[in-house]
Amino acid sequence: MDERLQGKIVVITGASSGIGAATARLCGAAGMRVVLGSRRTELLEQVAEEVRRAGGETLVCRTDVAAPADVERLIRAAEEHFGHIDILLANAGAGYSARMAEITEEQILRTVQTNLLGVIRLTRAALPMMIARRSGHVITVSSVAGGFVMPRAAVYAATKAGIHRFTEGLRREVREYGIHVSDVMPGIIDTPMTSYIRNLPKAPVDDAARAMLSVMRRPRRCVVVPGWYRVVLALNRHFPALMDAAIARMPSQERRDPTAGSQNTGNSPPPPRSKDSS
Ligand SMILES: NC(=O)c1ccc[n+]([C@@H]2O[C@H](COP(=O)([O-])OP(=O)(O)OC[C@H]3O[C@@H](n4cnc5c(N)ncnc54)[C@H](OP(=O)(O)O)[C@@H]3O)[C@@H](O)[C@H]2O)c1
Repeated sequence: MDERLQGKIVVITGASSGIGAATARLCGAAGMRVVLGSRRTELLEQVAEEVRRAGGETLVCRTDVAAPADVERLIRAAEEHFGHIDILLANAGAGYSARMAEITEEQILRTVQTNLLGVIRLTRAALPMMIARRSGHVITVSSVAGGFVMPRAAVYAATKAGIHRFTEGLRREVREYGIHVSDVMPGIIDTPMTSYIRNLPKAPVDDAARAMLSVMRRPRRCVVVPGWYRVVLALNRHFPALMDAAIARMPSQERRDPTAGSQNTGNSPPPPRSKDSS
């Protein structure tokens, strides 16, 4: 149990997998009341069982954060079941790797709807109650990709950069109500989302989950996990040409589209240019 977090009510989106599921388990061990939202309810139920075994209370609510009605229902269900929300952890996210010339309309829309609009709508739904109680904490999960972008991740990175700026404006707006706003920027974490990545270091998912709990205990504007990515972000800000050259030398990372079965989307490299075509 954790004196500062015990009994607190947290809503976690994307709780069926990866960082969200690992964080939910730690919240259970801290004695928190955990509302788990995402689309795959079977997985959510499994995570909820683990949270209860660890000492927490749970509510499972099937939620597609890209659907405005689902977002409203999640927040209402949490308030009706537990009375209020202390912490909103807007963690659900989707990522695709696709060349800009090939990314589909559906992939663009889904990335923006899930990663950016989902977070904005969740926050809007939870805020009136937090404002009325003059207390609450909104935690977003952006990414180091919001400040340092790899090839074939431009749309994903745009949504994550958007979240980062969203939290800045939100923080300054809701401060007067005693509401905290924090943004967690993970680097490469070992989760299903990054299973396609080879030859790059991945931090254990529990490191990210511990960072979430640490931010819940002590709100901070921005936390980068692992911390060494701060150096990468600073290098990219101050020496972009150097980073362009370094990235050009890195092995290509192909990301599978989870909606496309075993197909890769938009990732097949173009045929090599023949020498006389240039
Ligand atoms: N892993 C990394 O290296 C890394 C780095 C930077 C940032 N992040 C961010 O960290 C967050 C968690 O990612 P992860 O690595 O834990 O990935 P993950 O294991 O693939 O989990 C993603 C979670 O988001 C949920 N989700 C996706 N689309 C959703 C939707 N439309 N509605 C509701 N839930 C949705 C998924 O649940 P359902 O499929 O059940 O809906 C799943 O629980 C994401 O925002 C991601 O962008 C991850």
